[in-house]
Amino acid sequence: MSLITLKNVSKIYGEGRTEIKALNKVDLEIEKGKIITIMGPSGSGKSTLLNILGAMDAPSSGTVLVNDIEIGSLAERKLSSYRKETVGFIFQSFYLLPNLDVMGNVLIPLIPYKVKDKDRQRAQEILDRVGLGNRGESKVGKLSGGESQRVAIARALINNPKIILADEPTGNLDSETGKSIIELLIKLAEDGKTIIIVTHDPRIAQVISEHPLGKNIWIKDGELSEKPTYDMFCW
Ligand SMILES: Nc1ncnc2c1ncn2[C@@H]1O[C@H](COP(=O)(O)OP(=O)(O)O)[C@@H](O)[C@H]1O
Ligand SMILES: [Mg+2]
Repeated sequence: MSLITLKNVSKIYGEGRTEIKALNKVDLEIEKGKIITIMGPSGSGKSTLLNILGAMDAPSSGTVLVNDIEIGSLAERKLSSYRKETVGFIFQSFYLLPNLDVMGNVLIPLIPYKVKDKDRQRAQEILDRVGLGNRGESKVGKLSGGESQRVAIARALINNPKIILADEPTGNLDSETGKSIIELLIKLAEDGKTIIIVTHDPRIAQVISEHPLGKNIWIKDGELSEKPTYDMFCW
């Protein structure tokens, strides 16, 4: 059974002569525990797709089911807990808060609540898992790009989401560091998380396609395909 199902999802920006079909009748099923890459030219709809999966944006038409729940039917309160608890986002620019230490950044999603000892303990376990167990008190400004992305991954994990949405997570990293971030995301998939990675790097798509949980998806002009066409490489 699929964890994520998109049926006939379109996203249209603007209207009339300025109308842009960012997603055009997209059908997609993603099973739990898979690790997926989405590749496609700039402007093809990759971020729009991730934002819709993360309920950061609503489709113009079509349905998005996650865990058999139709996201579009949720009231604002439930939608907000979906954003907080079901999905975790990571981005190309890590969006860490420079005046907080590593631990403080990991705890950011809990800020609306009183942070308890058990939350700190959990944050520490997650930092151990991403390889930053002894960096909790480091200033984030002192971290390398790879370390910064690990902090962002830890922050995305703090609410124990089922799904991690990664928008070009290695875009600011050298290829060795990027590879180690992808290896970490693969480990998370092996632990049962469902991971969706937008990437421009064909080597990442290659690594993922060789993994038993992996799959590559391609997008062009808002339309998905499971095989690339030649012109998809011409960006
Ligand atoms: N908020 C918006 N308003 C108008 N057009 C948008 C908006 N967001 C994205 N678009 C347009 O939708 C298309 C897909 O954008 P996006 O999903 O960001 O592409 P990608 O992430 O693949 O580069 C592009 O043509 C982009 O200009
Ligand atoms: Mg994008």
